[in-house]
Amino acid sequence: MKPIALTGIKPTGNPHIGNYLGMYRPALELMDNYQGMYFVADYHALTTMRDPQTLRGLVYEVAASWLALGLDPEKAIFFRQSDIPEIPEFTWILSCFTSKGLLNRAHAYKDAVDENLANNHDPDEGINAGLFYYPVLMAADILLYGSAVVPVGLDQKQHIEITRDIAEAFNRTYGDVLTVPEGIIQDSVKKVPGLDGRKMSKSYGNVIPIFAPEKQLRKQVMRIVTDSKRPEDPKDPESDNLFNLLQFFASPERLEEIRQLYTNGGAAYGDLKKELAALILEEFAEARRKFDALIADKAYIDQVLDEGAEKARAIARPILAKARKVTGID
Ligand code: ADP
Ligand code: TRP
Repeated sequence: MKPIALTGIKPTGNPHIGNYLGMYRPALELMDNYQGMYFVADYHALTTMRDPQTLRGLVYEVAASWLALGLDPEKAIFFRQSDIPEIPEFTWILSCFTSKGLLNRAHAYKDAVDENLANNHDPDEGINAGLFYYPVLMAADILLYGSAVVPVGLDQKQHIEITRDIAEAFNRTYGDVLTVPEGIIQDSVKKVPGLDGRKMSKSYGNVIPIFAPEKQLRKQVMRIVTDSKRPEDPKDPESDNLFNLLQFFASPERLEEIRQLYTNGGAAYGDLKKELAALILEEFAEARRKFDALIADKAYIDQVLDEGAEKARAIARPILAKARKVTGID
């Protein structure tokens, strides 16, 4: 079997073009040279989501997005995290090799603590233990299948480092049992900017959703924040987030023309936003047709995910068995 490339995404919102450029596209491009394993991380979503109907709906949306964007379930193993009962068991075993200090320093937890401290609250107020354990669950996702590479966006870098630390700690005790994975982080799309110039993220509400209805997508693009310069004023393309987003979708020739308009004057933000919306709609036209058909056929999605879970478990079982054996649990 080829080495495994594995990645997951939480069903916490509609997939956006930051997810596409930073994760879906690079991950799917690995399908030829690696055994792709892609999954919907619903246990991770449970650290924040509290409405069961919304969570169920988003699992289908994220699954349909994977398939619409090119995941071939004949080639890749595609599954839902919570369909793998080996995951919680392995998470526990790994947690016993994870130093608590390492988790104290994980960004998501540390940011939540810092915010509490800034507001004079108890440091752990409102923080569930699932959020604290998040990196261990993610390490289990990666290590349970012996993944060689993990394609992710820059914001996940620390999680990959924590995973490597956990695997190395385990291996120091028991020998070369777990594969220590490499993160693959695309240099060109480390951080796709959102409407307001911060990282595009579901949690900032600044996203351009890939499969939103056409009208809504155009409206979102028109909300991209720009400065108050007039069309004839010269502008710096590099510091403008509209230009930064155009870079991902315009042809090289057109991008060069737009760059000239920025530097020499003549770039009208409104027109360029319309152009960007048209480019995005064109890029995803085929995927959008597939998405609409898939989301109307949930039975098909369930079937694909069930089959994928069986294949994933077949890879997981021997690795978990070995971890149980070397530790003395078995
Ligand atoms: P969000 O921040 O919107 O909640 P997720 O945390 O679900 O996104 O991220 C899923 C994947 O997409 C991860 O690999 C993440 O690194 C990548 N990703 C998310 N937002 C961006 C972005 N703005 N630029 C590049 N990659 C991103
Ligand atoms: N934490 C990742 C994110 O927020 C999602 C994820 C869960 C993941 N498990 C994973 C990514 C394993 C890669 C590998 O985007």
